[in-house]
Amino acid sequence: MYSKELVSAVAALGLVSGVTALGCKDDPVEINSQADATQAAECTTITHDLVLATSAGPDIDLGGSLTEIKGSLIVKNNGLIQSLSSSSLETIGGAFQLNNVTSLASLVFPTLGEVGSIDWTTLSSLQEPTFGTPGITKAESVVVADTFVANLDGLNIQNVKDMNINNNRRLSKFSTSIKTLSNAMYVTANALNMSMEMPNLEWIANMTIANVSTFSVPSLKAVNGSMRFDSNYFTEFLAANLTKIQSGDLSFVSNPQLTNISIPQLESVGGGVTIANNTELVKIDGLGSLADVGGAIKMRGSFDEIDLPSLDNVVGTAEFVSTEDITDSCEALNKLSGGVVQGKVTECKGLVESANNDTSEAGDGSSGSGSGSGDDDSAASLASASMSTVFTLAALGGLVATFL
Ligand SMILES: *[C@@H]1O[C@H](CO)[C@@H](O)[C@H](O)[C@H]1NC(C)=O
Ligand SMILES: *[C@@H]1O[C@H](CO)[C@@H](O)[C@H](O)[C@H]1NC(C)=O
Ligand SMILES: *[C@@H]1O[C@H](CO)[C@@H](O)[C@H](O)[C@H]1NC(C)=O
Ligand SMILES: *[C@@H]1O[C@H](CO)[C@@H](O)[C@H](O)[C@H]1NC(C)=O
Ligand SMILES: *[C@@H]1O[C@H](CO)[C@@H](O)[C@H](O)[C@H]1NC(C)=O
Ligand SMILES: *[C@@H]1O[C@H](CO)[C@@H](O)[C@H](O)[C@H]1NC(C)=O
Ligand SMILES: *[C@@H]1O[C@H](CO)[C@@H](O)[C@H](O)[C@H]1NC(C)=O
Ligand SMILES: *[C@@H]1O[C@H](CO)[C@@H](O)[C@H](O)[C@H]1NC(C)=O
Ligand SMILES: *[C@@H]1O[C@H](CO)[C@@H](O)[C@H](O)[C@H]1NC(C)=O
Repeated sequence: MYSKELVSAVAALGLVSGVTALGCKDDPVEINSQADATQAAECTTITHDLVLATSAGPDIDLGGSLTEIKGSLIVKNNGLIQSLSSSSLETIGGAFQLNNVTSLASLVFPTLGEVGSIDWTTLSSLQEPTFGTPGITKAESVVVADTFVANLDGLNIQNVKDMNINNNRRLSKFSTSIKTLSNAMYVTANALNMSMEMPNLEWIANMTIANVSTFSVPSLKAVNGSMRFDSNYFTEFLAANLTKIQSGDLSFVSNPQLTNISIPQLESVGGGVTIANNTELVKIDGLGSLADVGGAIKMRGSFDEIDLPSLDNVVGTAEFVSTEDITDSCEALNKLSGGVVQGKVTECKGLVESANNDTSEAGDGSSGSGSGSGDDDSAASLASASMSTVFTLAALGGLVATFL
């Protein structure tokens, strides 16, 4: 090895053919070796992207004067690099992108606090990224997929737009400090036993959660879009402070151990409500405040009781089918047809062996949310919701002119 100083001095002078000096304003700054990295780390700020070539490695240290990369830090398709670190970098304006970096086992960024986004995929050797305290506090989006990480504790972000945590087979605990999430969260196919906690989450636009063993959102007050839980292993779902699901759906499908859904303050769901194939759920009695549903209701399962005491307005249809006897519940529910349920109660039936076989979603409320079941009978989209509102107003007469 040459001494770093010599190499960078030589490189800076451009004295060796094939070695060009790196400039802090290069677009991009390309790193082929530790010598390049040392030079780049002498910049306080890198104006554009910093890209590690596929041949850079095995150990790259970007520590020095470098505090900010205004563009992205990009490592892609590099099977050589084993460790990447910087003891000085504080900000990455663009993406912190690590894609298909299969030998990377050590990632140490103790001063990094703000990044535009985290985009980490296919990191088959990375177990535990090391950040400082408080770690990364700002990122607009976070994708961690197909990695070996067992721990994401260094992410302490409060407000994020998107979060996608999938196929991290060793990630058995995901505890995040987020307070708000403004577009979509997907969490699926991580460690079979994953426990998930979002103690500070107050509102979230959409979330889709699968294959999770425990789930906790004690502070959640509102879901702006949809909330879906498929194939999870939790036994209870509690959201004590959740009052509204604004424009989308609420759905629990094929959660085989679920015995209790308790959302006692939930008053409205903008889209559809689907509860299907949760075979241990024997009573649906935790939706005591639910009054308004903007789409359809579909409840199929092995329950013997369905209580929806506050239900006041369902724009779509409603369907209740169980493997057990639900005669008593049906007596009350059938009365909702045509009045409370603007569509109608299309089916309320017990002792149906195949009750758990149909898991398609009830009609949702949002156009283009991608959950379309193509089931025109049970589906009531928002479009048809507003149509039926128009027809209702038309029937009342006189008011139409005001609206057209
Ligand atoms: C991943 O990177 C390796 C080099 O380490 C490369 O051979 C392979 O083609 C890359 N895979 C993809 C899907 O790009
Ligand atoms: C979601 O709802 C909350 C509470 O009603 C509101 O404060 C927030 O601005 C909404 N967010 C979005 C992205 O609509
Ligand atoms: C799941 O977690 C429980 C304790 O929470 C543990 O006993 C069990 O071995 C775990 N199973 C797997 C597959 O990790
Ligand atoms: C994980 O969840 C998906 C549904 O999103 C399901 O298809 C898959 O079977 C589940 N995997 C396991 C191991 O539970
Ligand atoms: C739930 O709401 C109640 C009443 O608004 C509040 O006192 C309580 O602190 C909330 N719980 C959480 C965990 O935010
Ligand atoms: C999330 O929900 C919002 C409503 O708050 C909706 O407009 C948006 O399209 C949804 N995004 C996704 C990815 O579903
Ligand atoms: C469901 O959980 C809630 C809140 O913990 C509790 O009050 C209720 O009794 C539970 N219901 C069942 C059927 O276990
Ligand atoms: C449920 O569906 C499966 C697969 O289509 C079928 O084999 C089974 O007989 C069905 N069960 C009932 C009770 O209809
Ligand atoms: C119902 O849930 C069980 C257990 O999660 C699953 O194996 C089965 O495939 C589900 N049935 C349907 C029709 O999705």
